[in-house]
Amino acid sequence: MIESDRHPFLEGLSKHRGAPPTIIVIFGASGDLTTRKLVPAIYNLSYDNLLPANFTLIGFGRNPISDEEFANIANDSVKNYSRRDLNTNVWEKIHSNIQYHSGGYDDFNAFKTLAEKIDKIQSKNGQDSQILFYLSTPPSVFEPILRNLGESGLSSRNLHTRLASKVIIEKPFGRDLKSAQDLNNIMGSKFEESQVFRIDHYLGKETVQDLLVQRFANNIFEPIWNRQYVESVQITVAEELGVGSRGGYYDKSGALRDMIQNHTMQLLSLIAMEPPVSLHPESIRDEKVKVLRAIQPLNLDGDHSDVVRAHYSEGLIGGKKVDGYLQEKNIPNDSITETFAALRLSINNWRWKGVPFYMRSGKRMARRVSEIAVQFKKPPGILFTEGNRFDVASNTMVVRIQPDEGITMLLNSKIPGLETRTQPVKMHFGYATTFGSNTPEAYERLILDAMIGDSTLFIRGDETEASWKIITPILDYWSDCGRQGLESYVSGSWGPLASDRLLWDKSHEWRRSGP
Ligand code: NDP
Ligand code: BG6
Repeated sequence: MIESDRHPFLEGLSKHRGAPPTIIVIFGASGDLTTRKLVPAIYNLSYDNLLPANFTLIGFGRNPISDEEFANIANDSVKNYSRRDLNTNVWEKIHSNIQYHSGGYDDFNAFKTLAEKIDKIQSKNGQDSQILFYLSTPPSVFEPILRNLGESGLSSRNLHTRLASKVIIEKPFGRDLKSAQDLNNIMGSKFEESQVFRIDHYLGKETVQDLLVQRFANNIFEPIWNRQYVESVQITVAEELGVGSRGGYYDKSGALRDMIQNHTMQLLSLIAMEPPVSLHPESIRDEKVKVLRAIQPLNLDGDHSDVVRAHYSEGLIGGKKVDGYLQEKNIPNDSITETFAALRLSINNWRWKGVPFYMRSGKRMARRVSEIAVQFKKPPGILFTEGNRFDVASNTMVVRIQPDEGITMLLNSKIPGLETRTQPVKMHFGYATTFGSNTPEAYERLILDAMIGDSTLFIRGDETEASWKIITPILDYWSDCGRQGLESYVSGSWGPLASDRLLWDKSHEWRRSGP
């Protein structure tokens, strides 16, 4: 590793350096995620000397290509998508340990031959390895893969030892509550829960992990983190990108399944949960799931509906004209899939009763920004209230997940001058300024955690079901309504006007500005 590349992230990873020998098998070898994220993540882990000495990557896919052809594709994906340039020495270290296995995901024979390939690698290495299966395919093939892993005996290799097989499964975990339960059942019949790593890459983002630290390592927040002081909480996950080449997948999914059920619900759990009794994975996940269970059923129709859905029409992104959703590749021109969803949620517990939690996520929005804004109640209007001197804003803590990662506090300050006039000002902490840039990507951290068996940043089975319990009635209702109630928003805007209406009951507004 090059010294100038050192990042504070690397200093705290002593336990991660002890990952056992590992063979990672990525199903969906030619996929978008494998190409853009997983292979570059493995390269960067190798760059930082975080891979175990005996490490092999096996790409599993349907195309009949050779090991060398797959290694060349992997090399291109590092060149095109890695956060660091390709370093020949680092590449040579992993190059010789890249293999490819061709076969169908529902072909039992392909799994038998995979097991033989794994045996050969182990006998060549002279030691056993843990096998880490990464399901990076469309969810439609999760089930046959899991069945074949079970039936071929691959799922139970070295069970109850440090080298037990593990499985990372991509989101979305199911399409609704019933399918998530079914998937959990199949999972449970082939793997023990300790072997299962349901991934949500938002949990691998440094800023998301920092939520717990900010809340529980600073004593100033806990006393005011409740309904007495908090006016509302807003969670925004906005993207400038449209559906791009993923139309086939996206049109069957939509914003609610693709983003809200997982990423934004995870952000909500972390911002609203009670302090865990320890940092043990189960303690943290116990508290997260309690928050989800306390969320009240939503109003779905009428003027007081708690949900809004819309898809984008043509507009301007970065000054360039972009197509509307219905003109995108692989999108039927009568599609009613939402690319934007906004929700108003109530958490019925002692801490949060009466505090609205607003969340929204959309594609082709004005700016790429993921943030959580905790808006505090205003002080009583006794002082600073006369004439034009009054501009007392609500104190707001904005946690910027990405980009420009950091935390901003909005405070009120005196404008210099003879009169006492106030103005909102910002106090800012930026990750890049404090810790340097080039922070490792979420997938690096998560693959590493799965290798050492730390499930803290992964979703537990009951957690995903608790989230689907909130989301499924909305999906059912929308399905009954068909096109009715589906709004439209101009690409490059902040979403449909209807989403503003969600906040009017309490005279709140969505945040539109920058950090
Ligand atoms: P892709 O559509 O690119 O598919 C991945 C691979 O799966 C394909 O290259 C192909 O591999 C195999 N595959 C595709 N369709 C089928 C099919 N019908 N039957 C059998 N195999 C198929 O998906 P992504 O890579 O975009 O996503 C993979 C998973 O990761 C999904 O669950 C997705 O939700 C999740 N995800 C993706 C993100 C992204 O940014 N792309 C982000 C977060 C999660 P081959 O031809 O080699 O067999
Ligand atoms: C994925 C969604 O889970 O997250 C994509 O499937 C979305 O549609 C992506 O673009 C956003 O991730 P990030 O890390 O770019 O915010």
